Amino acid sequence: MVLVKFIFLYSIFSFTFTTCFHQIQPKCHQYESQALLQLKQGFVINNLASANLLSYPKTASWNSSTDCCSWDGIKCHEHTDHVIHIDLSSSQLYGTMDANSSLFRLVHLRLLDLFDNDFNYSQIPSKIGELSQLKYLNLSISLFSGEIPQQFSQLSKLLSLDLGFRAIVRPKGSTSNLLQLKLSSLRSIIQNSTKIEILFLSYVTISSTLPDTLTNLTSLKALSLYNSELYGEFPVGVFHLPNLELLDLGYNSNLNGSLPEFQSSSLTYLLLGQTGFYGTLPVSIGKFSSLVILSIPDCHFFGYIPSSLGNLTQLIRIYLRNNKFRGDPSASLMNLTKLTVLEVSSNKFTIETFSWVGKLSSLNVLEISSVNIGSDIPLPFANLTQLEVLSAANSNMKGEIPSWIMNLTNLVILNLPHNSLHGKQELDMFLKLKKLVVLNLAFNKLSLYSGKSSTPFDWFSISSLRIGFMQFS
Ligand SMILES: *[C@@H]1O[C@H](CO)[C@@H](O)[C@H](O)[C@H]1NC(C)=O
Ligand SMILES: *[C@@H]1O[C@H](CO)[C@@H](O)[C@H](O)[C@H]1NC(C)=O
Ligand SMILES: *[C@@H]1O[C@H](CO)[C@@H](O)[C@H](O)[C@H]1NC(C)=O
Ligand SMILES: *[C@@H]1O[C@H](CO)[C@@H](O)[C@H](O)[C@H]1NC(C)=O
Ligand SMILES: *[C@@H]1O[C@H](CO)[C@@H](O)[C@H](O)[C@H]1NC(C)=O
Ligand SMILES: *[C@@H]1O[C@H](CO)[C@@H](O)[C@H](O)[C@H]1NC(C)=O
Ligand SMILES: *[C@@H]1O[C@H](CO)[C@@H](O)[C@H](O)[C@H]1NC(C)=O
Ligand SMILES: *[C@@H]1O[C@H](CO)[C@@H](O)[C@H](O)[C@H]1NC(C)=O
Ligand SMILES: *[C@@H]1O[C@H](CO)[C@@H](O)[C@H](O)[C@H]1NC(C)=O
Ligand SMILES: *[C@@H]1O[C@H](CO)[C@@H](O)[C@H](O)[C@H]1NC(C)=O
Ligand SMILES: *[C@@H]1O[C@H](CO)[C@@H](O)[C@H](O)[C@H]1NC(C)=O
Repeated sequence: MVLVKFIFLYSIFSFTFTTCFHQIQPKCHQYESQALLQLKQGFVINNLASANLLSYPKTASWNSSTDCCSWDGIKCHEHTDHVIHIDLSSSQLYGTMDANSSLFRLVHLRLLDLFDNDFNYSQIPSKIGELSQLKYLNLSISLFSGEIPQQFSQLSKLLSLDLGFRAIVRPKGSTSNLLQLKLSSLRSIIQNSTKIEILFLSYVTISSTLPDTLTNLTSLKALSLYNSELYGEFPVGVFHLPNLELLDLGYNSNLNGSLPEFQSSSLTYLLLGQTGFYGTLPVSIGKFSSLVILSIPDCHFFGYIPSSLGNLTQLIRIYLRNNKFRGDPSASLMNLTKLTVLEVSSNKFTIETFSWVGKLSSLNVLEISSVNIGSDIPLPFANLTQLEVLSAANSNMKGEIPSWIMNLTNLVILNLPHNSLHGKQELDMFLKLKKLVVLNLAFNKLSLYSGKSSTPFDWFSISSLRIGFMQFS
C-alpha cells in the first residue's frame, strides 16, 4: 500500500507552465544551439537510465541543421528567442553532469526538467545557481548524489523545486538517501526563494530541526520532507500557511509536533505517518473541507476522534493505524461514503456495532486488526464488494468463516489470524477468490481440509499462505 500511496501522491502535483507562442518559428541563438548540442554529447543514451516505460531519447533528434527552438523538449522565448525551457525528463540520459556543463550557459532558462535520467551519482554542480531565472526545477529520480550545493539559494525566482526521490525506485543496492541538504543551505533557500509554491525534498537527508522561517513561505502549496531525518519540534505556523494543500512529513520518527486549532485550512493531503506527532485531533479538523487523505499512522496521537471529522465528506483515505485513539469513532466515520481506505487498527477503539461499515461500499482496504469485534465476521462486510484487503488480525472474531466471504471476489489479501474462528473449512473454497495472493488464517481453531477438486497448480497464484502454525510462502 505504501507503494500505491506514493505513486498517487506524486502524480497529483504536476505543474504546467502556460506560455503562448507565436506561429512564426523563433530563430535559435547560435551559442545556445551549440550549448545544447554539447549537452547532448555529454551523455550516452541508455534505455536503462529511465524507469518510465514511455521514455525515449529526446536528444536523439537534435541536430544542427534545424532550429533548436523546434527541438524535442526545447522551447524559446517568443520575443527574445532565448531558450527558456529544457524538458529532458525520462530521456534515457546516462553519464555524469560535468561542473562545466554547457547547460549553465543557458542562463535564460525558466524551466529545467531532468526527471528520471541517470546522472551516475554525480554531484549537482554548484553552477546551477547561475540559472537565476529558473522558476521550475525538477531533478527528481535522476541519480544525483552528495551535498546539494548552497548556490541553490541564488534561484530566487523558483516556484517549484523537486529534488525528491520516490519509494518505488530506490537506487540499486542503496538503503540510505543519495542527497544531503545542510541546514544553512535550507535556510538561505527559504530566505531567498520566497515565492516558492512546491518544495519536494523527500529522501533528502536534512538531519536537523526545521527553521521557523519556513512559516515565511506564504505561497507554499506543497511541502514534502518525507524521510529527511528531521528531528525536534515542527514549526506549527506551517499549518496556518494559507495556500498549503499538501504536507508530507512522513517517516521522520524523531520529528514531533501537534496539530493546532484551525480557523480554516486548504489542506488536501495531510501525511504524518511514522513521525513523533502527538496530541489529539483538534475539533477544528472539521474545517478541512478539502481533505482527501488523512494519513497519521504510527504516531503518538490519542483521545477521541472528533465528530466534526464526519463533515469531511471528501475524504477518500484515512490511516489511523497504531496510535492511541479511543472511544467509538463510528459516528465520525459512518457518513464518509467516499472512503476507499479505512485503517483503524491497533488503537484503543471500542466499536459497538459494525452495521455502518456496510455503507462504505467504496472501500478497497479495511484494516481493523486489534479492534475487538467479539462476534462472527460482521455481516455488513458482505456489502463491501470492492474490498481488496480485509485485515482483522487479533480481533476476537468467533464463529465459522461465512460463505459470503467468497462473494468478495476482489480480495487480494485476506488476513484473519489470531481470532477464534472455528469449524470445518474447505480450503478449496478460497480458490473462488481468483485475485487472492495472501491468505492468513493462522492461530484460529479451524479444521482445514483440502477439497477434492484442486490440484497443487491451482494454489500457485497464492504467494503467501498461512493456515496453521506453519507458513507456506
Ligand atoms: C517532477 O517530474 C515528475 C515527472 O513528470 C512529476 O511527477 C513531478 O510531479 C515533478 N515534480 C514537480 C514538483 O512538479
Ligand atoms: C535533423 O532532425 C530532424 C528532426 O528534428 C530530422 O528530420 C532530420 O532528419 C535530422 N537531420 C539529420 C542530418 O540528422
Ligand atoms: C559512472 O561512474 C562510474 C564510477 O564513478 C565510472 O566508472 C563510469 O565511467 C561512469 N559512467 C559514465 C557514463 O560516466
Ligand atoms: C572546468 O573548466 C576549467 C577552466 O575552463 C578547467 O580548468 C577545469 O578543469 C574544468 N573542470 C572540469 C571538471 O572539466
Ligand atoms: C539571493 O538571491 C540574490 C538574487 O538572485 C542573490 O544575489 C543572492 O546571492 C542570494 N542570496 C543567497 C544567500 O544566496
Ligand atoms: C521570516 O521569519 C522570521 C522568524 O520566523 C522573521 O523574523 C522574519 O522577519 C521573516 N522574514 C520575512 C521576510 O518575512
Ligand atoms: C520530541 O522529540 C524528542 C526527540 O527528538 C523527545 O526527546 C521529546 O520528548 C519529544 N517531545 C515530546 C513532547 O514528545
Ligand atoms: C458540520 O457542518 C455543518 C455545516 O457546515 C455544521 O453546522 C456542523 O456544526 C458541523 N458539525 C460538526 C460536528 O462540526
Ligand atoms: C449521517 O448522515 C445522516 C443522513 O444524511 C444524518 O442523519 C446523520 O446525522 C449523519 N451522521 C453524522 C454523525 O453526521
Ligand atoms: C450496501 O451498499 C449500498 C451501496 O452500494 C447501500 O445503498 C446499502 O445501504 C448498503 N447496505 C448496507 C447494509 O449497508
Ligand atoms: C453472495 O452471493 C450470492 C450469489 O450472488 C447471493 O445469493 C448472496 O445473497 C450473497 N451473499 C451476501 C451475504 O451478500
